[in-house]
Amino acid sequence: MRRELVNAKRISGCLQVPGDKSIAHRAALMSMLAREPITIRNFPDAADCRVSLSVAEQFGVRVDLRGGDLVLTPPIRPHVQPDTIIDCGNSGTTARLLAGIAAGSELSVILSGDESLSLRPMTRIVDPLTAMGAELFDTDGHMPLRIRGGNLPPFEYRLPVASAQVKSALLLAAVAAGCPVTIREETTTRDHTEIMLRELGAAITVRDVKPVLVEDSRDSRKRRMSMPEDFRREITLASGTAIKGGLIDIPGDISTASYLFAAAAISGGSVTVENLGLNLTRTAFLDHLRQIGCSVEIRDKHTVSGELRGSATVTGGELKARRIAGETVASMIDEIPVLAVIAAYTPGTTLIRDASELKVKESDRLQAIADNLNAMDVKCGLLEDGLAIEGREEINGADLKSYGDHRIVMAFSIAALFAVGPSAIDDDTSVSVSCPNFFELINQITQ
Ligand code: S3P
Repeated sequence: MRRELVNAKRISGCLQVPGDKSIAHRAALMSMLAREPITIRNFPDAADCRVSLSVAEQFGVRVDLRGGDLVLTPPIRPHVQPDTIIDCGNSGTTARLLAGIAAGSELSVILSGDESLSLRPMTRIVDPLTAMGAELFDTDGHMPLRIRGGNLPPFEYRLPVASAQVKSALLLAAVAAGCPVTIREETTTRDHTEIMLRELGAAITVRDVKPVLVEDSRDSRKRRMSMPEDFRREITLASGTAIKGGLIDIPGDISTASYLFAAAAISGGSVTVENLGLNLTRTAFLDHLRQIGCSVEIRDKHTVSGELRGSATVTGGELKARRIAGETVASMIDEIPVLAVIAAYTPGTTLIRDASELKVKESDRLQAIADNLNAMDVKCGLLEDGLAIEGREEINGADLKSYGDHRIVMAFSIAALFAVGPSAIDDDTSVSVSCPNFFELINQITQ
């Protein structure tokens, strides 16, 4: 549905956001492998997460609502063999994690997705899961995927792309098959799967490789930091490990909160989000806000269900442009659209490199950002692997395009808040993918 976007004079507020999408997917899908029920608290009403729940149900998981919590009772194994094609909708996380579970189970399934999901790369899971010993057939590197799972031998793998989804697919395949697995990451990606597996009783170990001081080969008087191994993190799952069951209490989604924080950053206002997930693999955007001149205050830090949470207050300041590349981009990949919107309001040139992954998200996000910023008369150059954005004090309202992508709709709704003149977006329906009440949240912080 087309939506006229509102303007705001002042931004302030203290609120909560729906539960974290990544954690919710994992809790829903792990119920397929658990021995006992998993109770999920604060499951978000997001279309993507509902797909993961419905998929679990199709494999025999019973879903009950008890006093606001979801209780997921696993099937007696072996799994129910669904007799239809499993539709993963728009959700890449459902498709990739489920592919892992199917690859390690005595199952024969076909996974499909909507138009956008059918364009997203699947070779990144097909290759390692095939190397593990499962049978997977993609369609020219994409969905639909045909999977015949079974017993898998011990497996070691070094991730060639920084992807939590690939890492999680392999870990879940190993849990399903009961085989040991060792995964090495060059760039640390979100670690919700590792945390949840440990919470639910699985035998998992995580080893961080720290840089060490070594003699400089060119000058023996000098020393430099060097990585003793060519990876950052090693995750090992023991043979025959089982997921028991238990309570997963989901904190607020920091990726959803990033839009509200961006509104504070651009306007010089202040927004507090309580009960917010603060897992260290997800907070790079808060560090970015600090680096460009905002104040970020964290309070009430504590851990629930293995995940760090607390309250975060972002207050806007005098913004300055910055160059981001490499690991920094990977660690806030979902926040880049809204980061680009802040850049449009930041004097100077913001350069974003090493961001090619954005081309294969729910839309080609580099193109979508560049097109929409150009429509608002902001100079945004499309680079081979990123964007060069020349910020301005004032940007113009425009007719914006959603590209069917929730993060583009939310990011440009923030851009429109402070634009000169009216803005509208052609279709706002995709916000339901991660945050159906997004526009109500915006209402709560705008005056
Ligand atoms: C996700 C991981 C990220 C992220 C996506 C959710 C997850 O994707 O962009 O929105 O829940 O594991 P990649 O792992 O493919 O980078």
